[in-house]
Amino acid sequence: MKDIIITIDGHGGCGKSTTAKAVAKALGYMYIDSGGMYRAVTLYFQENYIQLTNLKDIKKALAAIDIQFICNPTTETNEIYLNRLNVEEKIRAMDITEKVSQVSAIQAVRDTMVHLQQKLGKDKRIVMDGRDGGTTVFPHADLKIFMTADIDVRAERRQKELMEKDQLIDFDEVKKSLLKRDLMDKTREVSPLRKAEDAIELDTTHMLFHEQVEEVLNLATPKIIEMKQQNSAT
Ligand code: DC
Repeated sequence: MKDIIITIDGHGGCGKSTTAKAVAKALGYMYIDSGGMYRAVTLYFQENYIQLTNLKDIKKALAAIDIQFICNPTTETNEIYLNRLNVEEKIRAMDITEKVSQVSAIQAVRDTMVHLQQKLGKDKRIVMDGRDGGTTVFPHADLKIFMTADIDVRAERRQKELMEKDQLIDFDEVKKSLLKRDLMDKTREVSPLRKAEDAIELDTTHMLFHEQVEEVLNLATPKIIEMKQQNSAT
């Protein structure tokens, strides 16, 4: 096996997903948007009126959910499909964002998604962004990054991202929503957001996008070379 698993965890708005996508593209790896998976489940639950307190219905719904990543040939990046429909845009809506932390804290939801993520990563060659990639999903990942950034910078980036999708949201509202999700993600009982002991912290507050990507690629390259050497020695 010559390839590696890269996990990029951290708070929302640090630039995890844009960085992970660019790194995956540069290495020819598969990009897994684990947050997108929790968002897709949240969308399904919303559209099918699933009560978050009804475990029986939750389990039935999870069995009916099919999540796939399919590469968009124009952007050359993976997009998420829920039961064969592209939901890449729908899952970024503010009402889904507001509910996703609650849905992602449900043990049955996490068990199902973690199992799927591990299946997607069985042949390595993946870059996954999320909250628990380095701690729970791939504790033996070859390179673990933990991204951080100042809250105002994160809110600014998230607001810009939403604006590009024609969603005009007040800065304070975006900031409040990020802080609320940070708290829920960090304090939930099941697989909370935390830095893995062997993760490398990357503070992107003062970094330009291309610098973030270069930094991760600079960290990944020796790991890939090391893996190739190990492979040729055996
Ligand atoms: O990265 P994002 O904003 O798309 O993530 C959406 C939510 O999903 C976030 O509030 C926390 C949750 N999440 C999670 O619990 N575990 C992951 N591995 C990824 C996301």
